[in-house]
Amino acid sequence: MKILITAGPTREPIDPVRFISNRSSGKMGLALALTAIERGHEVALIAGPVSVDLSAIPRVITVETADDMLHAVRRELEWCDALVMAAAVADWRPAEVIAEKLKKNNMPRNLQLEPVPDILGTIAPAKGSRIFVGFAAETGNLLEEASRKLVAKKLDLIVANDVARPDSGFESDTNMATLITASAKPGAPVLMTKQELAGRIVQWIESRGP
Ligand code: CTP
Repeated sequence: MKILITAGPTREPIDPVRFISNRSSGKMGLALALTAIERGHEVALIAGPVSVDLSAIPRVITVETADDMLHAVRRELEWCDALVMAAAVADWRPAEVIAEKLKKNNMPRNLQLEPVPDILGTIAPAKGSRIFVGFAAETGNLLEEASRKLVAKKLDLIVANDVARPDSGFESDTNMATLITASAKPGAPVLMTKQELAGRIVQWIESRGP
C-alpha cells in the first residue's frame, strides 16, 4: 500500500527568532514509517521539526507550519491509500508575524492568536476510499475525547494516547494507548513501545487495505 504519514510538531513564528510549538519528538511517526517500510509498503513522511534522525526514510517532505503541513498533505493525498496523522499540530499561531526580532524591552505582554487550519477537517471532503488514521493525545477523558474525534474528524481509526503519564507520549519510547474504531467497543489502554504500537496500526491498515 501507499501510506502517507505525518510526524512531529509544527512551528508558528512569532518573530524571526521565536515560535509557538507543541511537544513532540517525531518518534511515533518515525516508528510508523519504519514499520510500514519493513512490511513492504511505500511510505511518504511529512515531518515538522523533529528531534529524531529520519535518514532511514527514503521519502521525507519537511515542513514548518500547520499551513505548510496542510499544503504537503493536500499535494500527496491523491497518491496515498492511507493517511496516518501522527503529527502534533500546534493549534494556534500569532495573528501577525513580526518581521524584525522583537527586543526584550519591547515585548508585548499579550499575543493575539488565531487558530491554524484543522488539516484532517480541511481534507475530509477529498477522503474518497482512503483510510484515515488520527491520534488523540489526552490528559483526561481519554476514551470519550478520542471517540468524539473519531467521528468529528471522519476517521476510520483513532489512536487514543494517555499523555498524562511520564512513560507515555511526547519524547517517551512507550505509549499508553488503545485503538478505537466505530465498529468495536474500545479496549483498555495498554503500555507498549512505539514500535509495537506502530505494528498494530500498520496491521490494522493492512486488514482494511485495498
Ligand atoms: N490535527 C489536524 N489538524 C490540526 C490539529 C490536529 O489534522 N490543526 C490532527 C492530529 O494530527 C491528530 C488529530 O487531528 O491526528 C487529533 O489531534 P488533536 O490535537 O487531539 O485534535 P484537536 O482537534 O486539536 O483537539 P483538541 O480539542 O483536543 O485541541
